[in-house]
Amino acid sequence: MRLILLGPPGAGKGTQAVRLTERLGVPQLSTGDMLRAAVAASSPVGLQAQAMMERGELVSDEIVLSLVAARIEQSDAQRGFVLDGFPRTVGQAVALDTMLGEMGLALDAVLELQVDLNALVARMTGRVAEARARGEATRADDNPDAFRTRLETYREQTVPLSSYYAERGLLRSVDGMLSVDRVAIEVMSSLGLKL
Ligand code: AP5
Repeated sequence: MRLILLGPPGAGKGTQAVRLTERLGVPQLSTGDMLRAAVAASSPVGLQAQAMMERGELVSDEIVLSLVAARIEQSDAQRGFVLDGFPRTVGQAVALDTMLGEMGLALDAVLELQVDLNALVARMTGRVAEARARGEATRADDNPDAFRTRLETYREQTVPLSSYYAERGLLRSVDGMLSVDRVAIEVMSSLGLKL
């Protein structure tokens, strides 16, 4: 299956992507994780992306598309994938359609996690507290200023994707305010699957 997880920052895309990859046996393709790895490695892409990510702004389509194109061609993605955090702009969605079309492939579904925006700040601070408790570094963009920018960016640039995919008959909405386990059940059910 080739799936997209849509939703605002902190909606639970990464959490549900892990569940889906375990259930479906296909990889999670998280552009946020790919970019953070590039930043950690101080690669040319990482050096270009770092400041934008720290401010909570989107990295250029050019950078993100090159990462995704290379990742989709790897052998473990041949049976399918769960895209987490990509696409984030209509331009990226159009480019993904072209990319898949050239490979003779198509998306199966786009799952949108519906979350009360007031809950997102609490989830972000919860993630920071959990990372600190484990003695791990926290994300550079998990702070109030960057998080506000991430939410504004989502509203302005990513929300239009809901209608883009609804018009193509691919959009399925899932209540992201339920517990993690209940959301996972709803996600599977929207795909006609059981956990
Ligand atoms: P990215 O890493 O994609 O971040 P994001 O979209 O802001 O999403 P998060 O990872 O913060 O949240 P999530 O929805 O995955 O939630 P999670 O499961 O972690 O992107 C980071 C940056 O990279 C961007 O700002 C941008 O700069 C750049 N970037 C990435 N992709 C790009 C692209 N395509 N184009 C351009 N730039 C790009 O959950 C959050 C917390 O909530 C966790 O603590 C979790 O345990 C908890 N939680 C999850 N589900 C539930 C639940 N149901 N109930 C209670 N708690 C829950």
